[in-house]
Amino acid sequence: MTIHVLSIASEAAPLVKTGGLADVAGALPAAVAAHDVAMTTLLPGYPAVLAAVSGGKGKVKPIHSWPSLLGQPARLVSGTIGGHPLLVLDAPTLFARDGGPYGDATGRDWADNGLRFAAFARAAADIAGGAVRGLHFDIAHAHDWQAALVPAFLRFAPPGAAPPPPSVMTIHNMAFQGFFPASLFAQLGLPDAAWSINGVEYHGGVGFLKAGLDSAWAITTVSPTYAREIRSAEFGMGLDGLIRARGHQVHGIVNGIDTREWNPATDAALASQYTARTLDRRTANKAALAAQFGLQPGPDALFVVISRLTWQKGMDVLLQVIDQLVGLGARLALLGSGDKALEAGFVAAAARHPGRIGVRIGYDEALSHQLQGGGDAILVPSRFEPCGLTQLYGLAYGCVPVVARTGGLADTVIDANPAALAAGAATGVQFNAVTPDALIDAIARTVALHGDAAAWRTIQRAGMKADFSWGRSGKAYADLYNHLLEVR
Ligand code: ADP
Ligand code: GLC
Repeated sequence: MTIHVLSIASEAAPLVKTGGLADVAGALPAAVAAHDVAMTTLLPGYPAVLAAVSGGKGKVKPIHSWPSLLGQPARLVSGTIGGHPLLVLDAPTLFARDGGPYGDATGRDWADNGLRFAAFARAAADIAGGAVRGLHFDIAHAHDWQAALVPAFLRFAPPGAAPPPPSVMTIHNMAFQGFFPASLFAQLGLPDAAWSINGVEYHGGVGFLKAGLDSAWAITTVSPTYAREIRSAEFGMGLDGLIRARGHQVHGIVNGIDTREWNPATDAALASQYTARTLDRRTANKAALAAQFGLQPGPDALFVVISRLTWQKGMDVLLQVIDQLVGLGARLALLGSGDKALEAGFVAAAARHPGRIGVRIGYDEALSHQLQGGGDAILVPSRFEPCGLTQLYGLAYGCVPVVARTGGLADTVIDANPAALAAGAATGVQFNAVTPDALIDAIARTVALHGDAAAWRTIQRAGMKADFSWGRSGKAYADLYNHLLEVR
């Protein structure tokens, strides 16, 4: 029997994306479709999303409306995303704004994010609970803090004709928790019983992610190693006790990649397409990339970075060793945006090393493909990384990942130690502590490996052959949904 799942996310590619959550929410419907799961995605009605569902005509026919959704007028609009059903919450007072999904054009969070995403979750709980005629869902699947009140709304629903559906809470990043003042509680319409340590209360305020983790029937996160790490104070960000308490209800399911979007054999963004058997064709991409970033041409190792420029991603550590990287004879092309001090640091490094370091501050989807298709190695020195997608794209593109041994990076890259090299199993380079010394050692090791053309080819090919498509993980989600419906 087909299981109907409502997937609730604040971003989904290709309609709205600030990071990996969008890639995953965008790919999940196709991933589970193979296992008899029909997934509908619910997104907030940001201007770009509404424009996409209206086909540019500006007019859409609502299928449901709320005169007062936590005090705001709202309507529900339907459309498609990647050929799968999409629902959009059109609530103009909350979402019809210029800027990003979470903040204004300068990057400052919207002051009413608590209300915005509480209303989003309230609508989702209504929809999952059967309030919209013609729509039926067996499972509600919430992603990250923006959707994390959904399990709580379902859990504290007043007793009705039908029991609310089971809920799944997926943690894409424990560092973002959605914590708001206690005054928000009165606006949520939850019963007093929900204001409790077993509910939405967290350190005297409203904790969205905390509420979701406490209320969901099952919790997942995006790699097995991160699922273990968040049981510790170092990675749990204050919620490790709750994660430990939920014990065997916490599952690590590694993300896959959308091979329709990320395949070097068909990637239209690349000057030259290639496969594991035609790796020579990457040379043209490398030359184009060097030219685009104002770098000297030639065979020297070309490292790339595609990243949010933040502490999580270890970008401050990379800045500390960037002169040494150049000293090793390597080059670096970096695409990213984030902390202003880090942005300035990388721009200054490029000015110090013309022809050796090229920096592009901003967000550019096509350029991110060109970096993977032309770079020799991608640096991912994250302090923590729930899954990480850029190392997976690197593997698929023969852009060898150089990663910190944490979270999904530990689970998806096989270090080029002597044994793995001899066995032909190595797919990248891992290092342990995110310190300047460990990072520059890993970079030096990579430069040396790159100098051995045969060994490098073997590493590239092993990565390209590894299967990071959604096959197994799509089945893991489907198995979890089935299990919840059996035990309900
Ligand atoms: P996170 O979600 O923590 O930022 P992930 O590795 O899971 O990290 O996902 C990041 C996604 O965003 C990838 O698809 C990556 O290619 C993309 N990305 C990050 N920065 C940029 C950028 N400046 N331009 C284009 N794409 C970017
Ligand atoms: C988060 C994490 C990242 C993960 C992504 C998708 O943004 O930081 O590691 O890959 O979500 O799950």
